[in-house]
Amino acid sequence: MTPEVALSNRDALPDPLRVLIKEFPRQGWEENPNYSQLIAFWLDRHLMFRRLLAQLQSDAETAIDRDLAPDRYKRQLAQYGGMLINQLHGHHQIEDMQYFPVMSRLDKRVREGFDILDADHHALDGILAGLTDAANGVLQAKDKKMVDPLAKLHASLTDFAPMLDRHLVDEEELVVPVLLKYAPPEFR
Ligand SMILES: [Fe+2]
Ligand SMILES: [Fe+2]
Repeated sequence: MTPEVALSNRDALPDPLRVLIKEFPRQGWEENPNYSQLIAFWLDRHLMFRRLLAQLQSDAETAIDRDLAPDRYKRQLAQYGGMLINQLHGHHQIEDMQYFPVMSRLDKRVREGFDILDADHHALDGILAGLTDAANGVLQAKDKKMVDPLAKLHASLTDFAPMLDRHLVDEEELVVPVLLKYAPPEFR
């Protein structure tokens, strides 16, 4: 795999891997007869990750502006941050072990895309570890010494957001068209 397709370097999947999203544009997904409950559920998980991250970002900003009491902020951070990190890990495991091995066999034109998504998960593992450290830095700080760890966490969240979004968008545009086109029995 070339470095240009790494999560931190790309703006989209390479054009040859976008052949199926051109055939199945996003606007028509829900009307497609092969749009299954599993697809809806899976897209909903992605929406949940996006919402959790947006909540963590806005909470961090409110805490920086001192409009959120430190103890309440820490409770929310532990809850939403823990949820995002744990659920994302579980989600990646299911994709790597159950989804991608089946999907990557369905259309060899886009097979390489699943290797790229798998590599994204490894890149995201490292980023999530950094995010966990930054969150723990805030949680362990005394209320009066939260300023620096909070700035660090906010910076980590700001770096993470476009990476997560890139991964989710590219993954959706690869996975959903494959499922709509081939409707494999494993995913109905
Ligand atoms: Fe993924
Ligand atoms: Fe995913």
